Amino acid sequence: MDVIIVGAGGHGRVVLDILRAAGEHAVVGFVDANQDLHGSEIAGVRVLGNLNLMPKLRAKGVGGVIVAIGDNRVRQSYAEKLGAAGLKLVNAVHPSAVISPTAALGVNVVVAAGAIVCTDARIGDSAIINTAAAIDHECEIGEAAHLAPGVRLAGRVWVGGGAVIGIGANVLPCLKIGEHAIVGGGALVRRDVPAGATVVGVPARVIKTAVQPMAI
Ligand SMILES: CC(C)(COP(=O)(O)OP(=O)(O)OC[C@H]1O[C@@H](n2cnc3c(N)ncnc32)[C@H](O)[C@@H]1OP(=O)(O)O)[C@@H](O)C(=O)NCCC(=O)NCCS
Repeated sequence: MDVIIVGAGGHGRVVLDILRAAGEHAVVGFVDANQDLHGSEIAGVRVLGNLNLMPKLRAKGVGGVIVAIGDNRVRQSYAEKLGAAGLKLVNAVHPSAVISPTAALGVNVVVAAGAIVCTDARIGDSAIINTAAAIDHECEIGEAAHLAPGVRLAGRVWVGGGAVIGIGANVLPCLKIGEHAIVGGGALVRRDVPAGATVVGVPARVIKTAVQPMAI
């Protein structure tokens, strides 16, 4: 199927590489909101314009799209809009990734090179399982969460939607990482992380809590 990658930044480049390695779809262009990129080429693939082009591209036979934007909220929102408009949201799974046949993947999911997704793990729509991240049995990864390169989750970890687990962080079994929480690179998480909080260090400690809604 001919597909478009939405987002021509660093993550978009990685996704192009993965889709080429997987060989299932043909990437026929990028779209990106940054006008400065329009007309440029990334590894031989042209940045065609912005998202408004999608209906025209669809009419020309583009059937699929993958949103490759690093910001979790933006990625999720674009993917939902494009899916609602009838485009097929495809996954990018590198052939070197190991995915258990009992694991379940949503749509618009990226599983990068060397990642491991074990038995009965569930990966939500628009999640990123980045290079060499390892997710053990029965983990649940929420929509548009991002596990950075080298993250290791023990069994039965629950990761809320939109959470970011930074490069090389480790999470002990059965813990909950709240929605939109941030785990710093290299952290060792030994306790649940509240939604929206930022934790860092070994063992991980909270350095920022979620911004509370203002009282009226
Ligand atoms: C956790 C993180 C988001 C914090 O960023 P931030 O909110 O801008 O925080 P700051 O840089 O202001 O740091 C606040 C404090 O936490 C410390 N800190 C920040 N990140 C840390 C980390 N990963 N490990 C240990 N301490 C850390 C800082 O040294 C600082 O300490 P101080 O107040 O004693 O000086 C960021 O440092 C991080 O680790 N990001 C991961 C990025 C990543 O993995 N990206 C992958 C892309 S593929």
